[in-house]
Amino acid sequence: MAKTAAITGAASGIGRAAVQRLVAAGWTVAGLDLPGPRLDALAAEAGPGFRPMPCDVAEAAQVAAAFEALAATTPALDALICCAGVLRSGKMAEMPVEEFDRVMSVNVRGTWLCARAAFPLLRQAARPEAPARVVLLSSIAALRPKVISGAYAASKAAVSQLCRVMAAEWAPEGILVNALAPGTVDTPMVRAMADPSVGKGYQPSGASPVGRIAQAEDVVDVIQFLLSDAARYVAGTTIPVDGGTQAAFIPPGSR
Ligand SMILES: NC(=O)c1ccc[n+]([C@@H]2O[C@H](COP(=O)([O-])OP(=O)(O)OC[C@H]3O[C@@H](n4cnc5c(N)ncnc54)[C@H](O)[C@@H]3O)[C@@H](O)[C@H]2O)c1
Repeated sequence: MAKTAAITGAASGIGRAAVQRLVAAGWTVAGLDLPGPRLDALAAEAGPGFRPMPCDVAEAAQVAAAFEALAATTPALDALICCAGVLRSGKMAEMPVEEFDRVMSVNVRGTWLCARAAFPLLRQAARPEAPARVVLLSSIAALRPKVISGAYAASKAAVSQLCRVMAAEWAPEGILVNALAPGTVDTPMVRAMADPSVGKGYQPSGASPVGRIAQAEDVVDVIQFLLSDAARYVAGTTIPVDGGTQAAFIPPGSR
């Protein structure tokens, strides 16, 4: 029988690449994202293994309704991948309250709401020899925050803490929870920052010693590992996927 996953933030960037990877591997995937042309386009492209589910993950009633609708056809979920997130930049002394609140409500509240709603479905799929999986998208910002991204860094630190506590609470239920901490990934989220009115001084998270920026596929490879049997004893971690960006300080002029 086909494995089943729910992916939030499915319409763009890392979430979109994860949808495409899992559908190609024969999974049945429900994709939650804000309603709009990007989600419609993905639905048209991804084929019958994909079910679009328009939903604002920050809204408790919408999340509950989406997972109820999902449970009606898919009562057991092998995996939840929480990619929905927003980046708002700005200095701490200047950031508008509404922007701070949006970052927190999508990145933290939305991640928790989706995980909580998915829990009964994940528990339904979990078997001792095949635990269900949750992968949360944290960020390098949780491990090494940077200026002009304080709210985002705080939200991702919270995601990593949610990961640790959910992992400890849910492992006995057969559900393994982990998070990823990518460095800068070439996605629409980061590309939007090139507009100075949006970016407000935003800079990438530093240069990877690997010598290139990450692509969404670099992150999806590690998601796929966390979904695989090879990760059957991995829980409660935030795994950097940053090409070594924050491994060591490289003083200017040392190369
Ligand atoms: N791109 C990076 O450099 C980078 C680095 C580290 C972590 N991340 C994290 O990875 C995740 C995916 O980022 P991405 O780069 O693919 O971004 P993206 O902007 O390309 O995709 C994010 C998706 O989330 C959706 N979304 C936003 N708010 C939502 C809401 N309220 N309800 C439902 N969906 C919503 C957007 O519509 C979009 O489709 C995010 O959590 C992000 O914080 C990204």
